[in-house]
Amino acid sequence: MRHLIDFGDLNREEWDALYARASRMMDAPEQFIDACRGKVACSLFYEPSTRTNFSFQTAMLRLGGTVFGFADPSSSSVAKGETLKDTVKMVSGYADVIVMRTPWEGSAKAASLYSSVPVINAGDGGHMHPTQTMADLTTITRLRGRVDGLCLGLCGDLKNGRTVHSLIKAMAKFQDIKFFLISPRELAVPDYMRAFLRENSMWFTEVTSLESVIPQLDVLYMTRIQRERFVDPLEYERNKGVYVLTRRKLERARSDMLVMHPLPRVDEISIDVDDDPRAVYFQQARYGMFARMALLEHLALQPRQDSLPPVEIGTRPVCSNPRCITHTEHYLPPIVRRTGGVECCAFCDAALR
Ligand code: CP
Repeated sequence: MRHLIDFGDLNREEWDALYARASRMMDAPEQFIDACRGKVACSLFYEPSTRTNFSFQTAMLRLGGTVFGFADPSSSSVAKGETLKDTVKMVSGYADVIVMRTPWEGSAKAASLYSSVPVINAGDGGHMHPTQTMADLTTITRLRGRVDGLCLGLCGDLKNGRTVHSLIKAMAKFQDIKFFLISPRELAVPDYMRAFLRENSMWFTEVTSLESVIPQLDVLYMTRIQRERFVDPLEYERNKGVYVLTRRKLERARSDMLVMHPLPRVDEISIDVDDDPRAVYFQQARYGMFARMALLEHLALQPRQDSLPPVEIGTRPVCSNPRCITHTEHYLPPIVRRTGGVECCAFCDAALR
């Protein structure tokens, strides 16, 4: 059974094949109107979404399939206390693929243990968002012709921004990538991401000033300060509005730099940037639909796996990350893995201390 929990689940050849397929879907969508005829996707959105939810739904409809699910868990038996395991076991009996977004880190991995059909991570808390990365890579490849050799500036809330974490993971599959990680010190990338960058010998430097590095960038990837992830509201107040990309700041950037953003934006890209030809974030959101079409076709046609291996029953969380799914679903097994000699939670990647 294949799932997409983390971009690391795909190797470079698989990604290249998915991109080629997404490109064909963009160029000749009429050739794919029956690609998933008879297939059903279930969309479980425990958190708000515009792009991811709607683009997955339209992707399945454009492939000839159908979609059911919820965009508000209070309309389902989750409101009566149903566990994630039971919800997933139920809907995997009805659907051919599950698309899932939650505020709990590691939840898609948890769901995959109990699902008879592929699970797609559509964002798990501040952890990962691999299908946004598919949209991002599709945009860069389509507009720049390549990903290898590029210099990317990732700017904003790099601590809580799951799109940034997934993109960094994906870039390990490409050659000669340089990262400028631009954030306030208290919103820098989590330790597990820094460990990942070092382990994969990726070039990166952490800075606080956008203006000082903008002339060097091929891609500027802006992100929102993720208000909903802050435990301390004062920390949010200190950091909101810290980066605002304006037309004036863009004057120092290369004429072919791409300005990207996973969206939604709040105030980090001024409206007057929208008409600059380098601003490609709305195009990026549309490309995401084609990337998701390619992924759905790849996963939804797999045979069901009705006999799943037994899963050990846990009794208490081993992970200290309070946003980890193991803190809300106590039956999850205490799975630990080693990364760079450090023991980590296999669900949310946090180091176990
Ligand atoms: N980029 C993204 O995930 O947007 P939504 O939250 O609207 O899905």
